[in-house]
Amino acid sequence: MARSALLTVMLQAARKAGRTLKRDFGEVEHLQVSLKGPANFVTAADRRAEEILHDELTRARPGYGFFGEEGGRRPGADKTHTWIVDPLDGTSNFLHGIPQFAISIALEREGTIVAGLIYNPANDELFTAERGKGAFLNDQRLRVAARRRLVDAVVACGLPHHGRGDLSLFRKELAAIQDQVAGLRRFGAATLDLAWVAAGRFDAFWERDLSPWDMAAGLLLVREAGGFVTDLDDGDAMLAKGHVLAGNETMHRELLRLLRAAAKG
Ligand code: IPD
Ligand code: CA
Ligand code: CA
Repeated sequence: MARSALLTVMLQAARKAGRTLKRDFGEVEHLQVSLKGPANFVTAADRRAEEILHDELTRARPGYGFFGEEGGRRPGADKTHTWIVDPLDGTSNFLHGIPQFAISIALEREGTIVAGLIYNPANDELFTAERGKGAFLNDQRLRVAARRRLVDAVVACGLPHHGRGDLSLFRKELAAIQDQVAGLRRFGAATLDLAWVAAGRFDAFWERDLSPWDMAAGLLLVREAGGFVTDLDDGDAMLAKGHVLAGNETMHRELLRLLRAAAKG
């Protein structure tokens, strides 16, 4: 598959950061046994990956702004372009030796996400999309799942945890969805949850209390794979509001109805 210059730049940065994350992931499994625990080590791995991504992307596209989870906003001379980056999504998984984590890079041009990449170094799965050009897993074109009945659907979600999120609201949503679908999953890396909707593995995904870097690349992937993505008010303010619902047109409509009713009830 011929890759655009833009995706090539993103891919080279992701592969370089991915190599160090993969090495650190191997290391973290040994650290599990140490008394101090691997948390500090993971924080360092996370920061190291973000610096590699920053340096590589900035070298290739000087002037673009950079908005990363670890370092916050670093504006560039070019005000029309910003990279939105999560250097390690799925930190808890990484910390526990669970190979469900990813690097996520999105490019925002004048408020629109025009390119997205999500890369899991543990299994070398690379998800990419460019606006108007489709979504891909490695070289294979992606399409969201075609299932239309909730009763057949496997749906991914997030869970409020550790003092984060609105637990009572989540419980209402869970009660509304759980017995309508074939299965619920909580895999712990929002970027991959969205990529897996694009790949048709999950029929839908919803989560609240997310940050822009958790969603930016994945939103484009789902749309380019023919899916529907909105915030939970059926609007387009996912990055500003921090909540998201993604799926094919039918799944999106049905789940939105249930989630809205649950939130009111
Ligand atoms: C987290 C993951 C997780 C989601 C959390 C995010 P992190 O990102 O995407 O699935 O439920 O809300 O913060 O901290 O692992 O980069
Ligand atoms: Ca994240
Ligand atoms: Ca992160």
